[in-house]
Amino acid sequence: MSKAIRIHETGGPEVLRWEDVDVGVLQAGEVRLRQTAVGLNFIDTYHRRGLYPVDALPTVIGMEGAGVVEEIGENVHVFQVGDRVAYAGGPIGSYTEERRIPAARLVKLPDSIDSQHGAALMLKGLTTQYLVRRCYHVKPGDTILIHAAAGGMGLLVCQWAKHLGATVIGTVSTREKAELAASHGCDHPILYREEDFVERVRELTNGVGVPVVYDSVGRDTFDGSLDCQGVLTGRYDLLSPSPVTRCQIIRPVPKGTWPSPSSQHDHSRHSHRYQQDGHRQVARSVTCQLQDAADGP
Ligand SMILES: NC(=O)c1ccc[n+]([C@@H]2O[C@H](COP(=O)([O-])OP(=O)(O)OC[C@H]3O[C@@H](n4cnc5c(N)ncnc54)[C@H](OP(=O)(O)O)[C@@H]3O)[C@@H](O)[C@H]2O)c1
Repeated sequence: MSKAIRIHETGGPEVLRWEDVDVGVLQAGEVRLRQTAVGLNFIDTYHRRGLYPVDALPTVIGMEGAGVVEEIGENVHVFQVGDRVAYAGGPIGSYTEERRIPAARLVKLPDSIDSQHGAALMLKGLTTQYLVRRCYHVKPGDTILIHAAAGGMGLLVCQWAKHLGATVIGTVSTREKAELAASHGCDHPILYREEDFVERVRELTNGVGVPVVYDSVGRDTFDGSLDCQGVLTGRYDLLSPSPVTRCQIIRPVPKGTWPSPSSQHDHSRHSHRYQQDGHRQVARSVTCQLQDAADGP
C-alpha cells in the first residue's frame, strides 16, 4: 500500500483525495520506486479537469517525479536497487509515495542533482532542450523571442538561450515579471500590456525580425508572433502557400519529442549536463507535502 493523491471523478481541486492505494504486483520490465519528490505541471490540471482523458477512474494523477529504486522486475538490467532516478511524461500516476513504473521511462540522476531539482526540471529541462537545441538550434548572435518569459518554461528558455549566446527578447505582463525575466537572462523584457510587442521586436532587431518565436500562449499572440519572424508582415491564410511556407510552425508534444527510451536518455544527459553547469534556477519554486497537493503550499 502507498499513500497517494487520487481522483475518482474529474473536477476542481476538491476531487483530489489523499488515500491508500495498492501499488500492485511488479511486472516484467518494471521497477518499484520510493518517490522522494514529485513535479507538478499544468497538464496535471488537464487530467484532473477531464480536458485530457485518463484511461480509467479512479486514478493517481501526475506525470513527473524522482525517487529511489526499491525493487527490480524481470528483464530490467539497467538499474539496481538504490539507484536515484527521475522521469517525466508519464505514465500517469506520480502523486504517490510509491509506484511501479516501466524502467524504460527512467533516467539515472547524477549525484549533483538533488531529487527536488530532478523532479522539477525533468519535463521543463527536456522541453527546453528540445526547443533551443532541436526545434531551432539557438546560436551565438541570434536574437530570439519568447512569450511568457517569466513563466516556468520561459525562465528556463531565457537562461539556456542566453547561455548559448543569444540575445533574448521576452514578453511579460507586469514590471515584477520583467525584473524576474531579466534576472534569468532576458535582455529585453517587453511589457505587452503597455507596448506593442511586434513594433518593439522590429525596433530591437532593426526591422530584421527574429529567426524563432517560442510562443506558449497561442491564440492571443499567434499573429503577432508570425509578424516578428524574419520580414513577414500582415495577415496570413495558413492554408495558402505563401508567405507562411517560409516559416515552420511546430507544436511539440512530449511523446513526439523524446519518443524512444534512448532519445529520452540522450536528451536527459544533455539537460542534466546543462544543469550541472550551474544553470538550474527554478524561480519561485514552491514545495509542499504531497498530501497537501489540493491546497498548495
Ligand atoms: N512546464 C512544462 O514542463 C511544459 C512542458 C511542455 C509544454 N509546456 C507548455 O508551456 C506553456 C507554459 O507553461 P509553464 O509551465 O511555463 O506555465 P506558467 O509558469 O504557468 O506560465 C504561463 C504564463 O503564460 C502567460 N500567459 C500569457 N497569456 C496567457 C493566457 N492567455 N493564459 C494563461 N497564461 C498566459 C502568463 O504570464 P504573463 O502574466 O507574463 O503573461 C503566465 O504566467 C503552457 O502552454 C504549457 O502547456 C510546459
